[in-house]
Amino acid sequence: MKKSPMIVLAGGNGYIGGTTAFALQEAGFVPVIIDNFSTSKKGAFNDFEVLEADLTDFSQTQRALKKIGPVAGLIHFAAKALVPESFEIPGLYYKNNLLSTANLAELSVELGIPIFLHSSSCAVYGVPKSVPISENSELHASSPYGDTKIMAEILLDRYRQMGKFKVLHLRYFNPAGAWPKYDWGEAHDPETHLIPNLILSAIKNQPVSLFGDQYSTPDGSCIRDFIHVVDLAEAHVKTLQMLLAGKAMPPCLNIGRGEGSSVLQVIQAAEKVLGKKIQVKKEPGRAGDPPELVADVTLMNKVLDWTPRKSLSNMIEDDWTWRSSTVK
Ligand SMILES: NC(=O)c1ccc[n+]([C@@H]2O[C@H](COP(=O)([O-])OP(=O)(O)OC[C@H]3O[C@@H](n4cnc5c(N)ncnc54)[C@H](O)[C@@H]3O)[C@@H](O)[C@H]2O)c1
Repeated sequence: MKKSPMIVLAGGNGYIGGTTAFALQEAGFVPVIIDNFSTSKKGAFNDFEVLEADLTDFSQTQRALKKIGPVAGLIHFAAKALVPESFEIPGLYYKNNLLSTANLAELSVELGIPIFLHSSSCAVYGVPKSVPISENSELHASSPYGDTKIMAEILLDRYRQMGKFKVLHLRYFNPAGAWPKYDWGEAHDPETHLIPNLILSAIKNQPVSLFGDQYSTPDGSCIRDFIHVVDLAEAHVKTLQMLLAGKAMPPCLNIGRGEGSSVLQVIQAAEKVLGKKIQVKKEPGRAGDPPELVADVTLMNKVLDWTPRKSLSNMIEDDWTWRSSTVK
């Protein structure tokens, strides 16, 4: 009998990696996770093999990968990923996000791992000159976090150009939602993302922060392109399947819905879904927050022959379903 292909998920114990692990398993892959639990909880999973290693430590990472043995590919989710925090402790962001990438790249060569999928971000575009943002847009980040994503892309592109392994950067826009079926959702501490904070506010009857209402957008609040995390996980599965099948692929793909929603529109959508008024507390805009980030998804639609299925309301509903059973 043919063995199911094994895929390493570096940083797979976190929000997006964990969701992708379930999606890969449903698609017939065997996910194996390496994580240091720096931004996620140890013991969160019973479903998969989870190895503990700090990816910034070459020997620890080498030991973990050797223990796993031959794999069909690797997905690198591991990163410190909070924009405001990256201004407070930039050194940690540069070290963690770049050393982990450099170690995984070197070890992919050493161990012959043929495919390297990289969790990149719309943060690579900084404040874009035009919206929707295509993959050809200029890269100039507006935060240390965004810098690390550009630098990791450059590093990995060099390995791709040298023919060491296949590389594809998935530039996620704004993942949100949960997978209640697997009791899996977004649990960052601190939580800086809008939808989880909105749902937490609704559960606790507390106001949600609106960071900036004077942006150059129709209602003054920031506009983002939200994508359901289960759709995002599916995009990983599709990309991996195509790379494994030897299809020619571009070096990077935007992953979003190509639809912008302002923070105030998301709050209104949540009030509608939850049937409840949500109090808003106005706060100053945050450093590194561009006014509008919406993906041009033409290339994603074409290359993956795929479009996300879930709506903004689905993201809110699923986060609510998961979080209201989790938060006491
Ligand atoms: N969540 C978003 O809104 C978003 C948007 C765009 C891109 N991304 C990118 O997607 C990836 C996953 O994001 P997430 O929201 O799931 O984050 P997360 O914090 O939930 O998960 C990241 C995981 O990586 C692990 N990790 C970090 N540094 C590590 C190290 N040195 N060694 C081993 N493990 C380490 C953490 O413990 C955690 O389990 C990140 O690379 C992030 O930059 C996220």
